[in-house]
Amino acid sequence: MSNVVIVGTQWGDEGKGKIVDLFSDKFDIVARYQGGHNAGHTVTVQGKKYILHLIPSGIVHPGKVCVIGNGVVVDPAALLYEIETLKGLEISVEARLFISNRAHMIMPYHRAMEAGEETARADRALGTTARGIGPCYEDKMGRRGIRMGDIFNEELLAAKIRENVKLKNSLLKEIYGREPLDAEATLLEYRFLCERIKPFIVDTAEYLNREIKRGKRILFEGAQGTLLDVDHGTYPYVTASNATAGGACTGTGVGPTSIHGVVGIAKAYTTRVGAGPFPTELNDSIGEQIRVKGVEFGASTGRPRRCGWFDAVVVRYSSLINNVDTLVITKLDVLDGLEEIRICTGYAIDGKRLEGFPTDIETLERCRPIYESHPGWMEDTSSVNKYSTLPQTARRYLERLSHLIEADISIISTGPERTETIMPEEDSKLSKLL
Ligand code: GDP
Ligand code: IMO
Ligand code: MG
Repeated sequence: MSNVVIVGTQWGDEGKGKIVDLFSDKFDIVARYQGGHNAGHTVTVQGKKYILHLIPSGIVHPGKVCVIGNGVVVDPAALLYEIETLKGLEISVEARLFISNRAHMIMPYHRAMEAGEETARADRALGTTARGIGPCYEDKMGRRGIRMGDIFNEELLAAKIRENVKLKNSLLKEIYGREPLDAEATLLEYRFLCERIKPFIVDTAEYLNREIKRGKRILFEGAQGTLLDVDHGTYPYVTASNATAGGACTGTGVGPTSIHGVVGIAKAYTTRVGAGPFPTELNDSIGEQIRVKGVEFGASTGRPRRCGWFDAVVVRYSSLINNVDTLVITKLDVLDGLEEIRICTGYAIDGKRLEGFPTDIETLERCRPIYESHPGWMEDTSSVNKYSTLPQTARRYLERLSHLIEADISIISTGPERTETIMPEEDSKLSKLL
């Protein structure tokens, strides 16, 4: 009865949504454990596209229960908008969406503080999604945050909003020279929004552990990616949560011994949205070709994603940090038609080869990728769902990736649809976990 974590091994957008959807029928519950509506997870079923931001991708499967864990930060307006959008697509969340009473709530002053800070950073701006994610986690750690459970106590909610708005207004004015927010207007807005969210709020840690005892299976849906993790990523160019597999425990209240496997998702190349070091970035026509063919534009913000070659140093590092059992390689089809494909096998500084992945961005920024070159396959792999029908050059490329990362590849994705997938062998590590 395994419970499994899906985790991004690069800088996000690896195709986690597609894989969570693919696995969902084997699980009873799908739980998000960190991040917020900065995430954009795409699920495509029979030509119909669903983009999930806060609600786990499992919602697309009728009957699956979805949990927003305590580690997630929730913007009530964004949540209600997403619920309404799903309704429009004939997906109901009634009686199958639960939100942790310990999850922190994103407030309008979080967005205002983020706008102030990003502007003040000028050329060092992080390029965040501007959703108020970072400042909300700051308040959580600063022990002044507002939790979903607080909305059941009118007096407490009012006091916390007034106190926080007062503090933020002085910071907004003194530090960023910005307009103050109106505490009473915020209070009115949040009372109205929260009334509609109350029915979804429960103690999800208690719920998940009870369901595990009853033999139910949980799929943990990571958001962002390992290199965006606040501890293990390219700090400070990261998000504000633990996107790595370990976050699944703290972000849901399910202990490590109840989690049995970690599946890492990697694209057949690399992308990054926002600022920060990216050793294999391609600022040329090949990068543009990948962006166009891979439709590499943010699912949340629409921003063009920076594109580059596969970085085996990054994914090997992620595999280590997450203790990945097996890997899924997505978007192989996007590399179709490239004459040469490169893989970064290591980094060099001043001509010297580096061991491992640097812990600070000053070093990472000085790293030059060491590439090996592979012949491309001038064939169409989109929709291929049998390993043996892949061109030999594509199989060699995948085998080389697996060797460099020191991890098995058990699924290969060749298109956005569920059916466009090379599924694992019966006796593979992944099949045993599923
Ligand atoms: P996530 O944030 O990790 O869930 O990934 P996103 O949804 O932000 O971005 C992945 C994009 O690639 C989505 O538009 C998916 O529909 C699409 N996608 C996923 N797998 C494949 C694949 O194998 N081939 C192609 N061409 N597109 C894919
Ligand atoms: P999914 O789950 C890609 C990036 C932002 C920015 C940095 C910090 O779809 O893979 P934030 O708003 O989180 O404080 O921004 O993190 N970022 C993502 N990049 N995919 C995501 O989510 C991301 N969520 C945040 O672009 O560089
Ligand atoms: Mg995404």
